Amino acid sequence: MIKISIITVFPELYDNFIKTSLIGRAVDDGLVQFNFVKLSDMCQPKERIDEPTVGPGAGMIIKPEVIEKAINLCQEKSGVGFKIFFSPQGEKLNQRVLRKLFNQLVFDKPINSNTDAKDTDPSNFKHIILICSRYEGIDERVEKYYSDLSLSIGDYVLMGGDLPAQVFLECFLRLLPNVVGRSESVENESFQSSFLDHPEYGLPVEWKDQYVPEILRSGNHAEIEKWRKNQACQKTILNRFDWFASNQPTAAEIALALKNIPNHYVVLMHSQVNTKDGNLSGHTSVASIDIHDIARSSATYGIKKYFLVTGLEDQFKIMQQFLEFWHSDVGLNYNASRYKAVERVKPVRSFDEVVKDIEELENAKPLIVTTSAKDHGNGTKIDYNSQGLVWKHNRPVLIVLGTGQGLCEEIMKKSDFILAPVTGMTGYNHLSVRSAAAIILDRWLGLHPITE
Ligand SMILES: C[S@@+](CC[C@H](N)C(=O)[O-])C[C@H]1O[C@@H](n2cnc3c(N)ncnc32)[C@H](O)[C@@H]1O
Repeated sequence: MIKISIITVFPELYDNFIKTSLIGRAVDDGLVQFNFVKLSDMCQPKERIDEPTVGPGAGMIIKPEVIEKAINLCQEKSGVGFKIFFSPQGEKLNQRVLRKLFNQLVFDKPINSNTDAKDTDPSNFKHIILICSRYEGIDERVEKYYSDLSLSIGDYVLMGGDLPAQVFLECFLRLLPNVVGRSESVENESFQSSFLDHPEYGLPVEWKDQYVPEILRSGNHAEIEKWRKNQACQKTILNRFDWFASNQPTAAEIALALKNIPNHYVVLMHSQVNTKDGNLSGHTSVASIDIHDIARSSATYGIKKYFLVTGLEDQFKIMQQFLEFWHSDVGLNYNASRYKAVERVKPVRSFDEVVKDIEELENAKPLIVTTSAKDHGNGTKIDYNSQGLVWKHNRPVLIVLGTGQGLCEEIMKKSDFILAPVTGMTGYNHLSVRSAAAIILDRWLGLHPITE
């Protein structure tokens, strides 16, 4: 049994909440017990629970002694509790945070509590105290003194902590065994793995000219399972690549994601670039370090081919000569890992040749994603969370990098999308193209696991 104490200005907001549906049943089955403390009951008759904030500006804040009394009352009744304050400034709630908290509170895994040593007996934490504030919030000192955890349910400001408390209870209590009917309903849900849930269908088979996929009616359970996994993967990479990338995906999940992410290509332009002398469609010289380093980044992030473009014959010959070494057995024997990276480099004479090459390989025109150090006036701008927007077209993606003073207007006009410039907080962003390439590829295709 989990005891939940709720400290609030408005306990009546929970009247239906604790009686209805699965939470109502959990209460009836004795899995969870609620106790409410109304903050105004902690005051003398006619005494206010709040007072104006100290310092300039309007706003009321709940008095520290009112919260203190409420917490003491809850603990006298049900023992020491794990205290959760709701605040837009708290740790953002998601399934990962929730699962960790659930394991700590319910399965007695070690807990990082700021309460006294004698209070850290895990069995005490089967009592959870939710503190729901209103107005401008709670005196900073009260939260600092009592809080075991401060939770936010998202980046927006509500009028009070009661909806956050109900959101928390809905997702927390459904993890308790026997609250949701079949445990696999909980296990197979979105955010339980690196993938979201697969799509579900019911009857009728045809609805508004849309059909239940035939595979689901085939009776072939193994094939259905495979299809569902793939659908879940597709939904995840299109809608929430950030979740996938942050969730430490398994090797099998990565392999499936790679099948569903369109192939990516990179081109480094040494022609059709703006140059220092004011030429708006000039040329730059090849640098061997850019060939190496961008090839190694390309290998790291799974780029199929890395093209080098120059319209100058002597520069083309230099590129060829350089690559002759790395594309030969001598290069392979000299440094096999470098050979593997540089294997994907191809020098060509024009941007159009790059597009044609990809079209031949893929049977589809690539989407052109250009990059610029400056905010470019025209075109569809995208940020580093826009993978789904690009990938949903199911076409190969060509990331275009410039040299000199950046890509010329003629190339920028070909953009299907323009990636946001890479910036820090200093106003200086004159990165070498190989540094920019590594940052862009990492933001676009990199895994960024959040450690537990
Ligand atoms: C109007 S808000 C106070 C906002 C506070 N002045 C701020 O800007 O951070 C009043 C109370 O609603 C609750 N609340 C509002 N938005 C929330 C959110 N996104 N997550 C959790 N609690 C929230 C908190 O209990 C908060 O103290």
